[in-house]
Formats: sequence, C-alpha cells, structure tokens
Amino acid sequence: MYSMKLSSIQTVEVLRSAGEPSRLRILALLAREELAVLELCRVLDQSQPRVSRHLKLLADAGLVERFPDGAWVFYRLTGSGRCAELAAQILAAIDPADPVLQRDGERLQTVWAERADAAGEYFARNAARWDEIRSLYVSDADVEAAIMTAAGHGPFRRLVDLGSGTGRMLTLLGPHADAALGLDLSQQMLNLARKRVIEAGLARCELRHGDIFATRLSSESADLVVVHQVLHYLADPAAAVKEAARIVAGSGKLIIIDFAPHRLEFLREQHQHRRLGFPDVEMSRWLAEAGLRNVRVAELPPTDQAGLTVKIWTAERGQERQRSAA
Ligand SMILES: C[S@@+](CC[C@H](N)C(=O)[O-])C[C@H]1O[C@@H](n2cnc3c(N)ncnc32)[C@H](O)[C@@H]1O
Repeated sequence: MYSMKLSSIQTVEVLRSAGEPSRLRILALLAREELAVLELCRVLDQSQPRVSRHLKLLADAGLVERFPDGAWVFYRLTGSGRCAELAAQILAAIDPADPVLQRDGERLQTVWAERADAAGEYFARNAARWDEIRSLYVSDADVEAAIMTAAGHGPFRRLVDLGSGTGRMLTLLGPHADAALGLDLSQQMLNLARKRVIEAGLARCELRHGDIFATRLSSESADLVVVHQVLHYLADPAAAVKEAARIVAGSGKLIIIDFAPHRLEFLREQHQHRRLGFPDVEMSRWLAEAGLRNVRVAELPPTDQAGLTVKIWTAERGQERQRSAA
C-alpha cells in the first residue's frame, strides 16, 4: 500500500531516534517480538525510567507502537509505513553475528526460560486443581456450548488441541472427530488428560508432549485446531497463532478461546498470566497475518464478580487459499 514519503526533518528525527546504542538494541529486540517494558529492562539491564524514556523517543518518531495491557505496557515495531520501512532497513544493515545484539538475544532467552520455568512449575503444581481454578472465572457450560456452536458438530477428520491441559477440549470435541491429538508442555497435565480421555472412552485420541511454538505437525493437517486458554500465558502469542494456523487444513478452522482485555493484575502475580486478555483488533490481525480469513467473534460476558469476559475467535483457511495452493 502507498504511504506518504517522509520529509527531511522527519527522516532526521527517525534516524536520531534510532541512532543511539540502547535504542538500536531495543529496535532489534522488538523486531523479534513484542515486549513489555519490564522485560526490556531486564534484557538491557537498565532502569525502568531510562528504558521508558528511550521507548518514548522511539514512539514519538513513529518507530514503535505502545499498547497498554492492564498495569503493563507492551511495545512492538510499527507495522507499516515509511518509518517501519526505515527501521527494517537499519536493522537489515546490522551483522546478525553482532556480539551486542547476540548477547541481548541470549538474555531474552534467559528471561523467557525463567518465565517458562515459573509457568511450568505453576501448571505442575496446579494440574490436579486446574478444572477447579478454571471454573472460578467463567461458566463451563456456557463456554462449552459456545465452542460447540463455533466448531460445528463435524464430523472432523482430525482435531488438534494445542495446550490441551487436562483434556477438556478433547473430551468435548473428540467425540465428533475421527482422530484427535492433544499437545502440552506439562507432563503432569498430559497424565491427567490421558486418564480423562480414557474415562471418556475416546479411542483415537493421542496425547503428546510438545511446544505450541514448534508443534512439528504437518502443515494443513487438521480440520479443527483449538487453542483454549493458553495464549495469555505465552511469551509470543502471535507466533503461537501463526503455528496453530499453519496446521489448519484447506477446509478447516482454528478456534481460539481466551479473555477480552481486563484489569485483574492478580492473575499475573498469582497465576502466571502474561497478557491480560486480547483486543479483537489484535487477534484479527494475527489471524490475518497467519493466512486465515473470515474471522468471527463470540463473546461470553462474566457470570460472577471476577468480571472476566471469554472470547471465542474463529477463523478459516478459506477456499481461495485452497485453490491457489492446488
Ligand atoms: C490454562 S491451561 C489450559 C488447558 C486447556 N486448554 C484447558 O482449557 O483446560 C494452559 C495449558 O497450556 C500449556 N502450555 C503452556 N505453554 C505451552 C507451550 N509453549 N506449548 C504447549 N503447551 C503449553 C500448559 O502446560 C497448560 O496445560
């Protein structure tokens, strides 16, 4: 799409903003994924006021976008336009083996690893209580009915449930599928799910240890892919959406169930949530970027004091892609 060229003054402002070591490092980090201010502070080993000042300059120059999420603020590179092109050119000129940026990448991995350990430990500790914890927030029956409506009754050839936990989605949707697969990082969750699907009499249901970011499943191999209450824990939800979408078959659909934006900070502190819900516009963008279309959204307003609205986003691969792939 055509976007207006920058004036010489704007160009100098953009270059000045990027032309400082910490800010260049921030741009390189945000080129990997969106990050919260506190995460950037840890990687750069700089104070929050200092990092926030850098981010403000980058945002004023149009190089990054900020989006608040409860008490946290996340940043990402500006998605399109001349500033985005300029940022991409600057970053492309840097040697990928640059030691400073490599060290930042390693620190980012450490931050993620610590988070993943904390989340893994949380799920291991709470595996047996997960169904109870989940029902603290929403009415299971209403959510399940809405998921069935979004999915349709099939029959599905292959159902894939990413972040399957104790197997709730498998027992709900599995009876309508010829074959089902649940993937989860937590062995404790997988053990409970195995027991549950056996009790439910699901014959062709496999449970596998795996990572939503790298499922190793074949592209376009499932006609129903479900990601239920997983994205808000993840370091890079957009990457997870992309991987989930990759698996969706030509005539298939992806269903994502998560929360609408909310302000319950205790879920971060006590329950390892990273994101406090997702706005429709963000989810729709991720789905479109992942090659899915026809996004539909269902909403289940809160049933108790906690005030959490559950969202169900459904998107399809669509026939156009099927034809062009043929
Ligand atoms: C809140 S539970 C939801 C489980 C299930 N979908 C449900 O709704 O009952 C989130 C699940 O995601 C899993 N998980 C977290 N990060 C993951 C990852 N990177 N890959 C696969 N599973 C992951 C956790 O182990 C946990 O079982």
